[in-house]
Amino acid sequence: MAILNKELQISIAKDFLAKIDKKDKKTSSEEDYLATCKEEFLQKLFPEYDFILQPKGCIEKDKVDLQCNHNGKTIFYLEAKSYGDPLPDDTEQLLRYRSNYKNLVYTNFDTFKFYKKQKDGSSLLILNVSLKELGGVLFEDESSKTGVKFVSYIVDQIASYSDDAIPIGSSKELAILLANKAKELDELIQVKIENNQSKVIDEYELFKKYLLTDLSKEEFSSLYAQIIIYGLSYARIHALKENATFELKTASEHIPSIHYLLKFFLKTAITDNLGEFSSIDSDLQLLLDSIVSMLNNTSKDIMSFDTTHFYEEFLVNYNRQMRKDKGVWYTPEDVVDYMIKSADVLFSDRLKINDGICSTDTYIRNGVKEYKVQILDPATGTGNYIRRIVKYIHSKMKDYNWSLYSKNLLDRFNAFELMIIAYTLARLNLLDEFESTGVKFDGDSLNVFLTDTLSPANTQNSFLGATHLLQSLVEENKQATITRKKPISLVIGNPPYLGASTNKSDFIMNLISAYGKGKVNDDYIKFMRYGQHIIDNTGFGVLAYITNNSFLMSPTMRGVRESLLKSFDEIYILNFKGENVFDIYKTVCISFFVKTGKKKPNDLGKVFYKEVGGTREEKLEYCREHTILSDSSFVEIKHISKELFFNVLTEDQFKSYNDPSLSFSISDLFPHKLGGITTSCDDLVISTSKVDLQKNIGDYLTNGILPKNTTVGNRRLKAHLGKYSKIQYRCYDVREYYDSSLTSSPMENNSKHSSIDGNFFISFNKTPQEESVFSNIYISKEYPEHKLFKGSNPILVAPYQISIDDPMGIIGSSVRDNIETLTIVPRFKSVLGDVSSLEIIDYVYGYLHDGDYIAQYNEVLKLDLPRVPYPIDKDHFNKYCGLGKKLREIHYSLEPSSKEPIHKVLVGSDFKVGRISYSKGNVYLNETTYFKDVPYAVWAYRIGEFNAVQAWVKDRRGRLLSSDELGVFSNILGVVKETLLLTDPDSLNIKGGDECGEDTLF
Ligand SMILES: C[S@@+](CC[C@H](N)C(=O)[O-])C[C@H]1O[C@@H](n2cnc3c(N)ncnc32)[C@H](O)[C@@H]1O
Repeated sequence: MAILNKELQISIAKDFLAKIDKKDKKTSSEEDYLATCKEEFLQKLFPEYDFILQPKGCIEKDKVDLQCNHNGKTIFYLEAKSYGDPLPDDTEQLLRYRSNYKNLVYTNFDTFKFYKKQKDGSSLLILNVSLKELGGVLFEDESSKTGVKFVSYIVDQIASYSDDAIPIGSSKELAILLANKAKELDELIQVKIENNQSKVIDEYELFKKYLLTDLSKEEFSSLYAQIIIYGLSYARIHALKENATFELKTASEHIPSIHYLLKFFLKTAITDNLGEFSSIDSDLQLLLDSIVSMLNNTSKDIMSFDTTHFYEEFLVNYNRQMRKDKGVWYTPEDVVDYMIKSADVLFSDRLKINDGICSTDTYIRNGVKEYKVQILDPATGTGNYIRRIVKYIHSKMKDYNWSLYSKNLLDRFNAFELMIIAYTLARLNLLDEFESTGVKFDGDSLNVFLTDTLSPANTQNSFLGATHLLQSLVEENKQATITRKKPISLVIGNPPYLGASTNKSDFIMNLISAYGKGKVNDDYIKFMRYGQHIIDNTGFGVLAYITNNSFLMSPTMRGVRESLLKSFDEIYILNFKGENVFDIYKTVCISFFVKTGKKKPNDLGKVFYKEVGGTREEKLEYCREHTILSDSSFVEIKHISKELFFNVLTEDQFKSYNDPSLSFSISDLFPHKLGGITTSCDDLVISTSKVDLQKNIGDYLTNGILPKNTTVGNRRLKAHLGKYSKIQYRCYDVREYYDSSLTSSPMENNSKHSSIDGNFFISFNKTPQEESVFSNIYISKEYPEHKLFKGSNPILVAPYQISIDDPMGIIGSSVRDNIETLTIVPRFKSVLGDVSSLEIIDYVYGYLHDGDYIAQYNEVLKLDLPRVPYPIDKDHFNKYCGLGKKLREIHYSLEPSSKEPIHKVLVGSDFKVGRISYSKGNVYLNETTYFKDVPYAVWAYRIGEFNAVQAWVKDRRGRLLSSDELGVFSNILGVVKETLLLTDPDSLNIKGGDECGEDTLF
């Protein structure tokens, strides 16, 4: 290990400590300090070591913050506390770390403590270097040598740790380390591309030209990093099997030729045409060498992992965003199998093809013999669908000369994938699957291609002086292009669904124009359009997808529905309600679109619909037990209206929703409506803490000091005009407020309504027409801020009672209920006899929270301000009125009707909000303190356009919560849970928030 000279070490330490010192302690998070410590101190002192921060968004409990590695061995682990916090040796957490980790460093960025595990298993503090304890202001007085000692102790200790490095202990750890190397590689390649370094640029151009037309430079560097890392790991696995020496120069030789793209890319990236290093840059070679030695130092046991699983682990750690962007979520096998067997029965029963998808029948098309069943998975991932199809068909055809049949099957099998490693695995998995049925194929026979389904490359395939890589790219493109022209009759799969799709090629944008105007930019809609286009071209077939279900009833997707109804004769929708079959929090459905070719082009096809609710396991069981045609309870949807909904909301229901004799708009119920409070300077007049607010106002009134980035314009805050009060800043979040002339809106003095005893405010607005569930209604005791629901639509605020000034100008001289008495109240009275305004409000509040009503009318509820049906009889009224009353009471008081004492729900004693996360039913305020037994649905609860629980803690990050605030948060968790229990109890069973899920906030 090269140790830097002392002067350099000191100057590094000096710069680091100066940077740390400059940070704003209030706003800088522990992560900021950690990142600075890593980049500016450790990495500079030990340039050849890898310092790996625990990946962002992947906080695992019982895992330290940073790991230092060298050549596949871990030198030490580091756990950090907030800057300057005490470092007790014996907290529960530290004792756990000391027993788990052999070499452990514990720091608050001023003190560094070094622990070492002894032979008897105990952990000893072997060094405690503290700047403060060394006694001196660092480096100001060079003669004191304080700084010199401080740095050299640290350097010496780390160096001595390296004599006792710890080998990689699991394939998960290896995946994290490799992911880190991939990030380094990615960055290096990006720099090379920016600097126009020819070799890498050439490779980029080749990929763009022959395979992935829309590939950006960033995507290429990422692809490059993945190929290298995965290629090297894969090569190392094979070298181990062959008992061969593994070295960088010859690494690609270990990759079997079925993976020609991987093999030749690796070869080209590392060596020149003659197999020499001459063309590789030294910095790149250095990095690649370090990866090779990491792999060489990893034991055989650890290298024998399941590659598909390993890839997912790697991808999560390497690039979570990419996993999301490309929609890399894998379908459970029961769902895949259900789709396959259903497609099979549709082929035999509806398309009248004997033997269904097993058929080898041919027909003549444009003078050429073609198979009737040609299958494509256009987003194959690691090949889940194609593998299961082999299994399914084998189970039916194994007795019919399988070795001959399987060759034919291979010809009818096609799959596309965009991510190179997934593609490599799909090929591997498909070959393995065939092999398990007793037949062996080579890679050339596979029609699984690396290509962008939505953006075909369009090139002339003639070239001269080809390298292996160029040849394989050209060949891949050629074969994919041939496949694109085949008359595919079954398109099956699970396409990605990203709301704001990045796929914008002319090809797909032209196709999608058939869906007309509207918000149809989601990836899954593009894949649906692609599949529809393919089946339309073939003239018959089945499109079977599992997708987001928003197209069923979104008013903006009417054009999608109309186009599908014109293409297909029959559409079957199995809509999943309740707990999702994926680990993502979106509702999905399985659709089968059947085209027989017999329907007249402009006639609309039929839609059959069915919902399956319950738990994930119940849904999987449904899939195991049924095919699409074995369940006779599908309901035919009659589309009479122009909306052409695909779900069960029939025309009659839609009409009755809008019929003024049957329902009324919430807006008409309240004659008097105001806007929410807006201020020109929230940071000055609104705060989560009264002490901070008083300080801000004091600073401003006495010295004219304003918080950062705040202006007050022309309006001057006058001390005598303001008063301290509360504001309902967001749903579930009451804040301190300085109500003054500076508050610009509403112009009407809202405090006169607030001062009415027991009064409350009903806020609502138009929920945006996105995928969200209707939820924008809320009752609060305090007057709300205008962004109560966080979105951009203005809110309307209806006070329950209003204060009326009399004609003599006496303010607030009388109070009356704010309710429409000409039409709406008489209608209620005609059914119920006597009824109070409060009961009517409760009825409305109950209705607009009712899970069944929202599930059925969600999309229409969002068309405008929501409408509510008039009651039919007393029972009907009492049901919703009772629900609304309970909800109003808990929302008003922000206290659940029964609550657990705080000591029972709160674990830990550090109340400063730090790294916030949700893990295994606990909401963590920081690493050690958490609220326990919180259902995932509470943590993920959305009202309006935000997550209420998450936003509350996030907005208080960095603050030490008082016991009152802890009580408030505990109440919020309780109120949200009770709200869900009353309105959507199934959601409380939803599991979610795996360690690397959506659920870490920083
Ligand atoms: C939801 S996953 C499905 C994977 C697999 N079919 C399954 O269900 O297990 C979607 C896959 O589509 C791939 N993908 C995304 N955009 C693509 C595109 N434009 N062309 C081809 N594949 C794409 C992703 O990389 C990902 O592997």
